[in-house]
Amino acid sequence: MPHPKPRWRPGDDAPVDIGIRGERIVEVAAVIDRGGASEIDGEGRLLTPPFIESHFHLDSVLSAGTPRRNGSGTLLEGITLWGELQPLLTQEGMRERAREYLRWCVAQGTLFLRSHVDTCDPRLIGVRTLIELREEFRGLVDIQLVAFPQHGLLRFPNAIRLLDQALDMGIEVVGGIPHYERTREAGIESIRLLMDRAQRRNLRVDMHCDETDDPLSRFAEVLAEQTVARDMQGRVTGSHLTSMHSVDNYYFAKLLGLLQDASLQVVANPLVNLLIQGRYDTYPKRRGLTRVKELIAAGVNVSFGLDCVMDPWYPLGTGDMLEVAWMALHACQMSGVEEIPLMFDAVTTAAARTLGLEDYGLETGCSADAVLLDASSVEDALRTRPSRLAVIRRGRIVARTTPPQRTLLADGLAGPVEFHQPAFR
Ligand code: FE2
Repeated sequence: MPHPKPRWRPGDDAPVDIGIRGERIVEVAAVIDRGGASEIDGEGRLLTPPFIESHFHLDSVLSAGTPRRNGSGTLLEGITLWGELQPLLTQEGMRERAREYLRWCVAQGTLFLRSHVDTCDPRLIGVRTLIELREEFRGLVDIQLVAFPQHGLLRFPNAIRLLDQALDMGIEVVGGIPHYERTREAGIESIRLLMDRAQRRNLRVDMHCDETDDPLSRFAEVLAEQTVARDMQGRVTGSHLTSMHSVDNYYFAKLLGLLQDASLQVVANPLVNLLIQGRYDTYPKRRGLTRVKELIAAGVNVSFGLDCVMDPWYPLGTGDMLEVAWMALHACQMSGVEEIPLMFDAVTTAAARTLGLEDYGLETGCSADAVLLDASSVEDALRTRPSRLAVIRRGRIVARTTPPQRTLLADGLAGPVEFHQPAFR
């Protein structure tokens, strides 16, 4: 099944005017008479809807080095390290870190973000802090919060009670981590318990699922089966699904039909998956990413997240969703001419479907949210990861970036350097 064409592309490459009144797009046409209204001249540059972060952890962001760095760089040491950091967390410290990161998001045009928040904390510091930040940033960066029992729903003492408490406090998505439970049976039971809660409260679900190289980690099938059984198609997300990289093709072919029936949303985290998976391999080493190419080709909605920035699991990152799409293009071998734009969709339109956003896009009636990129096309944006010339939220410019100027001084070559596409000769 071909991937649906993004709705926001108004007529391929033809430049258009976009009319905004108040917080809404009221007209998209070749030429709009602005009748004295103020104007932003895009000068033929690429205007897109804002970037969307489908999978993030705001509670741990920018905490790298506290109380120590991750010596091995592994996922398991990251979880241990997070356990060491948790008792040291304060609301003020977390608020400051997360707020700083959200400022980076706005500057780079990421205006929607889904963050998991660890509920395996008797003080629920993250839940309290991120609920406050969600309100503070509403209308600038819209944040969806996922109640995430990081240390295992059945493995961590009182995790079920703490998760229920977080949902009572207003967390809007139910999370999970079935592959981290002690046994397969416990993992399955955790999915059932979590789906019960989501169904009863009419909430979306987004579970860390099969984030391992173990081909026998097959919780995606349980998650999808439960989605169908409860009639929750399209409202359930499997995040990571990295074990799918390692399963045999026969099993994948069978699983794919179930994922389609469930309209399971899939979120891959290319930077972190590449870095963390395959750690027990010698050579060849697995890439550790889910089967993005095959899933998209089969019509499964796939979007991308950064997962982590400068925290116990991932020491790098700036919050640029184009960096994520660029990495995915390479790691998933999505370089076909029809495939390249799909990597851009995975951090924009496909991500909007994952989060269930309404009013998203550059069409009449949508919220007036957009990013003006210093690029001539989507492919050009992926190639150069350009400056965000203007970031627009609800009709207002909320950030601007001046592109860097590179000037060559060498004899005979002196002049500005810009990475334009070469003219065909
Ligand atoms: Fe995560």
